[in-house]
Amino acid sequence: MASSHRFPIITAEKAASIIRDDDLVGFSGFTPAGAVKAVPKMLAVRAREAHERGEPLRLRVLTGASTGGAIDDALAEADAIAWRAPYQSSRPLRDRINRQEVRFVDLHLSHVPQMLDYGFLGRVDTAVVEAVEVTDDGRVYLTTSVGITPSLLKHADRVVIEVNRWASRRLPEMHDIALLRRPPRRDPIGIHHPLARIGTPYATVDPSKIVGIVETNEPDLVSPFAEPNEVCRRIGRHVAEFLVRELRAGRIPPEFLPMQAGVGNVANAVMDAICEHPDIPPFQMYTEVFQDAMVPLMERGHLTGASTSALTLSTEAMRRVFENMDFFAPRIVLRPQEISNNPEIVRRLGIICINTILECDIYGNANSTHVAGTQLMNGIGGSGDFTRNAYLSILVTPSIAKNGAISSVVPMVTHVDHNEHSVQILVTEHGLADLRGLGPMERAKVIIEQCAHPAYRDYLHGYIRDSRIGHISHDLDRCFELHRNLCDQGAMLPDLSIAE
Ligand code: COA
Repeated sequence: MASSHRFPIITAEKAASIIRDDDLVGFSGFTPAGAVKAVPKMLAVRAREAHERGEPLRLRVLTGASTGGAIDDALAEADAIAWRAPYQSSRPLRDRINRQEVRFVDLHLSHVPQMLDYGFLGRVDTAVVEAVEVTDDGRVYLTTSVGITPSLLKHADRVVIEVNRWASRRLPEMHDIALLRRPPRRDPIGIHHPLARIGTPYATVDPSKIVGIVETNEPDLVSPFAEPNEVCRRIGRHVAEFLVRELRAGRIPPEFLPMQAGVGNVANAVMDAICEHPDIPPFQMYTEVFQDAMVPLMERGHLTGASTSALTLSTEAMRRVFENMDFFAPRIVLRPQEISNNPEIVRRLGIICINTILECDIYGNANSTHVAGTQLMNGIGGSGDFTRNAYLSILVTPSIAKNGAISSVVPMVTHVDHNEHSVQILVTEHGLADLRGLGPMERAKVIIEQCAHPAYRDYLHGYIRDSRIGHISHDLDRCFELHRNLCDQGAMLPDLSIAE
């Protein structure tokens, strides 16, 4: 790739100075992978200074997914975010969203690029994106994620590029970048295999929009996952044993099907358990995040290939990949999130999707995002893109949270991210509820018996017994009793004590 001599090298201060109050700013970054590192920090400094002078500086911030410390923490702590989409996992930002100081739009990740393209989100004033290289004719070679960056480069009025010298210059070997046309001229997406390639190794930008290049030399700030605990391991074993039964029954073909696994500690542990099971053959992934656990799985040959939108790797795992690009580059494809999460492909490839939820109800509706219906945790992310279209949609959660003060199985979820029509399999450490072909009352029985913590089962059975009978039994006076108790008394069943 021929590098550019055409664009000025500018400081992060200079880049930040072109951004004004209420601008819609698009940053690269999908999970912290590929998130820009220098300009947001300077924007936070500028915002603090502006606020001290009594001037407003609050931005509308759009990214691929969460961005962690470099963007969300820094800007939220400086009160520099007025509006945010489509996903976040930052504690300071979450607090401000839940205090209604920041407007947050929780979107399916695959929708974001097309929303930009259709004009649903308005004009993007400035895009700040990370690259390993940019050429004079506007080819932008991205770093550890793709996310919405190609769309930002297309739609932003002005572009700043952070060229990160820390990232391997061989990363573009993994990139496959294609933008979809607008309906009614949208073609079928020609991906018939997780590693299929349909695009180019670079994104493109009109060079006249590039304001300048900021140089950086830093790894992504990805926090390592916790070692799986026994609860996560048991969830993982239930999922693995279920997949083996499906394989033996011929409902999963002998060569297996591509897998997707969501973010978080639980999903990471489930992937470990699946790969440890001797009867599960090597498989591929069609997913949106490639996490630490997948590096050794690929090295050992359990995972033979992965399509993803981001390499969400700790610095140590990323170094391992960079040092062995001859091995990893042919096995990993990095795609825009519109394609990594695309419903057309999820259905065509027959993906087995595993995502973590906060709670489910006895009829199979699931809440991934809002504690007690009000407090945002992270967002729906890609879980809806995958769950709705999966060959097998599997949702997992520990049966209790906060030492048993919270049951993850409740009579009615207080917020619905995945409804009963999309959810096929629910799993906790106690067991697995296979909901396929079951009516609501059969679902309730199996979810309570297989998934609820034993200490909550009597309550849940009693709830059904005392409910108004219909196709679905409910007691509208009591359906949120557990959540009301939690809010008022700090525990769903205040008299219950669950031994460790
Ligand atoms: N009510 C209240 N809090 C709950 C809860 C419930 N029913 N269930 C879990 N929690 C809390 C845990 O106690 C923990 O709190 P802490 O951070 O204070 O310790 C927190 O939620 C995270 O739970 P954990 O068990 O560590 O799971 P995780 O790291 O796997 O995260 C989700 C779980 C649901 C928050 C996370 O997977 C998520 O945001 N999912 C939605 C997005 C998604 O699925 N993306 C996938 C596509 S890539």
